[in-house]
Amino acid sequence: MSPLNVESWWQPFTNVRAFRKNPRIFKRAEGCFLYTDDNRDVLDITAGLWCVNLGHGRQEVADAVSKQLMQLDYCPGFQFGSDVSFEFANRLMKYTPDGFDRVFFTNSGSESVDTAVKIAYRYQLARGHKNKTRFISRERGYHGINMAGTSLQGIPNNRKGFPLYDQVDLLPDMLSIERNAFSQGLPDDEAGVQNMAEAFEEIIAKRGADSICAIIIEPCVGAGGMAIPPKGYLEKVRELCDRHDILLIFDEVVTGFGRIGATFAAQRFDVKPDLITAAKAINGGTVPMGGVFMNQSIQNTIFDAAATNMPELLHGNTYAGNPVSCAAGLAALDIYEREGLLTRASGKIGSYWQDALHSLKGLPGIIDIRNFGLLGAVTFAPDPEKYPTGVGVPIHNECFKNGLLCRPVADNMVMSPPLVISEAEIDLFIERFSRSIKAIL
Ligand SMILES: Cc1ncc(COP(=O)(O)O)c(C=O)c1O
Repeated sequence: MSPLNVESWWQPFTNVRAFRKNPRIFKRAEGCFLYTDDNRDVLDITAGLWCVNLGHGRQEVADAVSKQLMQLDYCPGFQFGSDVSFEFANRLMKYTPDGFDRVFFTNSGSESVDTAVKIAYRYQLARGHKNKTRFISRERGYHGINMAGTSLQGIPNNRKGFPLYDQVDLLPDMLSIERNAFSQGLPDDEAGVQNMAEAFEEIIAKRGADSICAIIIEPCVGAGGMAIPPKGYLEKVRELCDRHDILLIFDEVVTGFGRIGATFAAQRFDVKPDLITAAKAINGGTVPMGGVFMNQSIQNTIFDAAATNMPELLHGNTYAGNPVSCAAGLAALDIYEREGLLTRASGKIGSYWQDALHSLKGLPGIIDIRNFGLLGAVTFAPDPEKYPTGVGVPIHNECFKNGLLCRPVADNMVMSPPLVISEAEIDLFIERFSRSIKAIL
């Protein structure tokens, strides 16, 4: 067999030149495991990229997709619709927080973020608040790679070198290892909540509440290195938004669909945002899909201000709400429901995960371990001389050698296993991860 040519595809977020020297290729996947081209099993402790929440290779989803492809593979969503797309939208409303009864479908988290930004702008405009054009987001936040999402990001390297909106102010990082190292679940960190509230008020004082459209934050930070809100933090954000008439957008692209023990973080924390962005696990991470969820009052406000002979929102994609992604979604919801996966992370497996992860305390280099639901992260002491881009990458490489896929973010390793993970698979993760850490540090 001739070797695979790996030159033509320019992969996302990849050091392509390094990859070409040492390609890492997967051939198949099942349950919590991926298999390489040389047939090694690799435990997927990241659910792909926080998306394969049902585990890999679910027959029911494959059957639904295949059937839908032959029944109605595609029809335009502009001025038309398929029955399956409406069925999926209607069914999703059973899982959303109370009062969320509308969804605008997209194909990815990035599209969901940019869609939410546009809907928020249009809502403020429709209310007659034409000066409410600014956004607040947060250091360490990740909101995808489209231009609005890039502008809203709090990860400096991802922003560098692009022409961005300058209409964004950042709240301080929610992660404080100094105050909260080795917290289990939500940290007790009144100072953290206070810092955020002061920074929020400073932004209001500087810009004026009448210039601010919305704030977008991840309830739990994912891609930026995993951070969990201190107790009372999200409640305080909601209170400040209400006080200053600012929309609250929860970016739930990671936290949505069971990651932290409820369908959405909004439900787990009992804090209601105005808009929710989702994607990834919305259909088990099988076929690209996303959506922005809202209450009909937001839609009605925009509709009431719109001309009646035009689309109310001149926005959308070729594949938004396409029948195949929606069929995958319906099958995924059946599995989520039957196997109790949307709440599983807040039960026994979540406690097992917490205990297992915190058992790593004391291994070389570890300065923090944190967890919530089926999210986890370990932070290593930085060593900029030896590892200028962070300690995560060399440990990640060693993990891959040892049959473990986890995600490095600078000096952190972040984890988000498939929600079907077993206790034995968590034990295997701990064994392979500790072995990899000891080999490097
Ligand atoms: C919170 C959050 N928002 C948005 C995105 C972007 O999603 P996508 O990669 O599907 O465009 C991500 C991706 O990781 C994310 O974690």
